[in-house]
Amino acid sequence: MNKIILDTDLAMGAPGSDIDDGFALALAHADPELALQLVTTVDGNTDVESATVLSLELLRRLGVKDVPVVKGAATPLTHPERRRTPPDEVINSYGQGLSPESGYAPAVIAERILAEPGEITLVAIGPLTNVAAALAIEPRLAGAVKEIVIMGGVFLGITGQRGMPGEFNVWCDPEAAAAVLRSGAPQRWVGLDVTLKVRLTRADARRLSQAPGEFAPFAGAATEAWIDHTQAAEPGDPQAGDSCAMHDPLAVAAIVHPELITWADVRLDVITGDVPGAGMMITDLRRAADAPASNARIAVDVDATAFTDYFLRSIEGL
Ligand code: BDR
Ligand code: CA
Repeated sequence: MNKIILDTDLAMGAPGSDIDDGFALALAHADPELALQLVTTVDGNTDVESATVLSLELLRRLGVKDVPVVKGAATPLTHPERRRTPPDEVINSYGQGLSPESGYAPAVIAERILAEPGEITLVAIGPLTNVAAALAIEPRLAGAVKEIVIMGGVFLGITGQRGMPGEFNVWCDPEAAAAVLRSGAPQRWVGLDVTLKVRLTRADARRLSQAPGEFAPFAGAATEAWIDHTQAAEPGDPQAGDSCAMHDPLAVAAIVHPELITWADVRLDVITGDVPGAGMMITDLRRAADAPASNARIAVDVDATAFTDYFLRSIEGL
């Protein structure tokens, strides 16, 4: 059994919003090999208030009553003015009557992991602000966490998305990503160049819509709406197409099914500061004895068919 904490900028449930964090949460609930202990929220795809309310709503929809949600960082770590997504009042007005647990996500993450050293995997599927803050509050966290699995970065072949350098989660808070890389914590990164290969089609969306449960039909409709959105993306945007990528669920799948992914140990760095390339990552693939020691394991390829199979079978039962 794999105990996990999911740190997310979940926006699923708001009209026209990105859906992959919601699917990642649903997968964490569906797979009996995963024990979801805590959901923490962070500013990213939406503001942290909305991510919190939407996470609570999604857990309610999934019938999950025993997983607390704790709100985290509202702005990037060292550059609050660089917040990428404006607060979303529409989403904030949703979900009245649902409230998170008290506390601040980075502190609660640190407390939970230190209470069970070597037992809990932290899955980060939004900007890394909470994770970096947790490591700063409690440096022993790096040695106590079983592993940090991150959806973030773009390592091979693609340089950016939607007009930003690099990948969204890292671009939102490059300083936080740098702190995680420096921490020495065991970490696996599942980057955009690989997650773009795992896609749901309109036929997949229909399959979910026809499932008998409550979540799967809701998720099927949300997938159709999100494909409409990605289809309208600017030409050249790697997200564009008549299907949508399941970035964050692949990071969850990596915990129980690492064999779906081909991995490489590398030296990773990220460009920080007020420079044009801030958020881009540097991947040093050298194997020579004098190359800098690796600090991360990255995904370099995926068996997309096997993933989609596992993913749809898991979700359609919900
Ligand atoms: C990442 O950014 C978000 O839009 C997705 O949820 C995912 O975590 C992909 O770049
Ligand atoms: Ca996300």
